[in-house]
Amino acid sequence: MDKTTITLHTRFQIGQVDPRIFGGFLEHMGRAVYEGVYHPDGAHANENGFRTDVLAALQRLQMPVMRYPGGNFVSGYHWLDGVGPRDQRPTVRELAWQSIEPNQFGTDEFMLMCQQMNWEPMIAVNLGTGTPEEARDWVEYCNAPPGTRYANLRAANGHESPYDVKLWCLGNEMDGPWQLGHVPADQYAIRAQQAAKMMKDVDPSLELIACGSCTPDLATYMEWDRTVLEYLGDWADYVSLHRYVGNPANDTPDFLAVTNSIDQQIEEMDAVCRFVQAKHRSKKRAYLCFDEWNIAYRNRGSDDMPKKGVFAPHLAEEIYNLEDALVIAGFFNSFIRHADVLKIANIAQIVNVLGPILTRGDEMLIQTIFFPFEMYTKRRAGIALQTIVAGPTYTGATHGEAHFIDTSAIWDTDTLHVFVTNRALDDTATVDIAVTDQTITALQHADMLTGTNPKAENTFENPYVIQPQPFDAVRIAAGKATLELPPLSVVALTFAL
Ligand code: AHR
Repeated sequence: MDKTTITLHTRFQIGQVDPRIFGGFLEHMGRAVYEGVYHPDGAHANENGFRTDVLAALQRLQMPVMRYPGGNFVSGYHWLDGVGPRDQRPTVRELAWQSIEPNQFGTDEFMLMCQQMNWEPMIAVNLGTGTPEEARDWVEYCNAPPGTRYANLRAANGHESPYDVKLWCLGNEMDGPWQLGHVPADQYAIRAQQAAKMMKDVDPSLELIACGSCTPDLATYMEWDRTVLEYLGDWADYVSLHRYVGNPANDTPDFLAVTNSIDQQIEEMDAVCRFVQAKHRSKKRAYLCFDEWNIAYRNRGSDDMPKKGVFAPHLAEEIYNLEDALVIAGFFNSFIRHADVLKIANIAQIVNVLGPILTRGDEMLIQTIFFPFEMYTKRRAGIALQTIVAGPTYTGATHGEAHFIDTSAIWDTDTLHVFVTNRALDDTATVDIAVTDQTITALQHADMLTGTNPKAENTFENPYVIQPQPFDAVRIAAGKATLELPPLSVVALTFAL
């Protein structure tokens, strides 16, 4: 394969990388909460019933923000069910996944977990079966000083000090016909505006995320977003994007080229934000919050299990492989390339449900997609630079022309982080990296993830098939770096300038 060159210049900046693009999402779904992070009967439980092996693994991902409690779940959730003495909380048949929800983990447990994990909480309110007033009351419970009903309730539950939750999602996927309480865009916009006003009346410092299109595949894509943003105006600080991708056609090159359509989705959503801002002649611009993203298409191992009317069923427990890990790297490359407009992103989810981590009883497995997250999050500080790529391309069946090399770069004074994926199935790629106004002086450290075939995966029986390894196939000469990347690999490099 011909050589690829990546050309950078420290003045060709995209924007500061917001660390919150490395966020997570914890939903009351399947075994994400129960067994996943909260498992009081398990061998790894701490004094709060939190699962310490899973939380220790999650610490490695340094997630700055955690979205909770759903997802589809939240559109039927009444937060009052999940606070107060545990033995008085109701067990309910929850409406989204139709599982049994005992409410043993709720707002106060989540806040404690956030404190222990150094996660900024990001709460989604119920705008499906809930009311704007119920959403407002939750803000009072979380953020108001004692003295009024719900703040006093929090204090009575043992939490005198407000939690000061800043990030609130105005519902979840309200454009999806599957969503509890789904309505057309204009009706959602009214509901969201009513909630936003009452929530900000309690705490004007909130940052609110309006439900945008949850997939480009729905007929309402873009029109939904325009309608909602036009009505909400300055009430919306962010608009949400969701994206789940997959490889059902078993076409690895095309799957790896999905980055094209992630770039496109971000740019289209940003275009709506700019359109509405211009139309309103507003100084305020809504930014993008990619608050659910991942690979989801297999659902293996759960189809034969009874899932309805069950507590913590095995739902959406994907086993991830090498090609999935490379696609996760592709999401991050796209996020970094759009650092000027994308401010928050939450991988969906964190454990068991579409999880980088999977549990089986007291055992825990680190899946392939965990590693690119870890490789990128360690190198996230700085300013995203434009990456000018010249080199060989191929054409994916649905995602069009793509460079074999996918990349992004973050510059931090005398340090440069470069992320490079070789999407070729069989060919080693030679890649030159040059920073035209700087000299690359040394490689500080680099990690690589690769494997023998795109379907290679970690399992409980064979957990170390795909593991990151130090990468040293780098030559530095005349201020430039040259890499030799094996096929189907991603490397994260940190250079001294
Ligand atoms: O993450 C799983 C589900 O996917 C979420 O509950 C929902 O918002 C999305 O459709």
